[in-house]
Amino acid sequence: MAVVLGIETSCDETGVGIVADGRLLGAALASSMDEHARFGGVIPEIAARAHLESLIPCLHEAFERARIKPGELDAIAVTSGPGLATALQTGLAAAKAFALAWDKPLYGVHHLAGHVAADTLEHGPLPGRSIALIVSGGHTSLLLLNDLARDPIVHLGDTRDDAAGEAFDKVARILGLPYPGGPAIDRVAREGDPEAFSFPRAMLGQGFDFSFSGLKSALARQVEQNPGLSVPDVAAAFQEAVVDVLTRKAVGACRAHGIDTLVIVGGVAANGRLRRLAAERCAAAGIALRIPPPWLCTDNGAMIAAVGDLLVAADHPPAAFDLSADPSCPLTKAVTS
Ligand code: KG4
Ligand code: ZN
Repeated sequence: MAVVLGIETSCDETGVGIVADGRLLGAALASSMDEHARFGGVIPEIAARAHLESLIPCLHEAFERARIKPGELDAIAVTSGPGLATALQTGLAAAKAFALAWDKPLYGVHHLAGHVAADTLEHGPLPGRSIALIVSGGHTSLLLLNDLARDPIVHLGDTRDDAAGEAFDKVARILGLPYPGGPAIDRVAREGDPEAFSFPRAMLGQGFDFSFSGLKSALARQVEQNPGLSVPDVAAAFQEAVVDVLTRKAVGACRAHGIDTLVIVGGVAANGRLRRLAAERCAAAGIALRIPPPWLCTDNGAMIAAVGDLLVAADHPPAAFDLSADPSCPLTKAVTS
């Protein structure tokens, strides 16, 4: 049995997780989100400083929860990209120091592959072939997956402009809701009527790419021209437009490629309406749907440990110590080294 430590510092969450054979032993998370809220978005230097302060306490907490000691680790995995450069470097420097001091192999992990692997901690190994919909603050992608640790990741579609989470965050700002916008819209939309407005469904029926900036502009125009609009109604109609396109394209991709497992991951996968609509549409199409519990959808260290665990099991060679942060690392493989 391999015991793998995972470290995640790509954005504003400091995450540490310990995984063994696909099972989560313990995890700890600290967030600098509140420090960014007054700026309406993540400030990289504040995030990096917060990682420095939180990493060691999170590490102790994760070890305590997992009831293991550093000597019992078999490997260390760390997010090397994509993400904020200074934030990534903090985690990378720490992971290298631990790997050197404790004499453990080091693995550089792609953050988005981490989001996918998070689901294995809840639902077990992925089948031989599956389709993943990644919906996070910076990315929206439909992917064809084979063996996550061994095989290249095939992009079926990506966003042409704003990512799904970015659209939630920008629209929340337009509506005067707090940052991060996704959870705020999710909350107020429950009181609204999703049919109060009919917002555009961009690029439906046009392959598997996404576009959300037109929707955001249409909404901004509506709000500007009608300042008295009900915020819950606008939020609900916006959310419906986003999740309608996401779920239609994801189910369409499964059908087009003859694949019967869909996994939805990333921060936006915590959205209540997306989870319900995806469940309905997958059930109707005979597709097995996997979505991790909300705390495993947003950034965390367990998901990075989960990828490390798969890499160790696949006998993947560890990274060299000159492994560097790659802020805009494309997603072609789970391992970045
Ligand atoms: O995956 P994640 O934690 O970080 C990135 O890798 O980007 O995703 C963060 C994004 C933010 O845009 C946030 O607003 C969105 O996920 N998000 C949500 C919800 N919870 C987080 N969007 C919609 N509904 C939610 N409940
Ligand atoms: Zn993420």
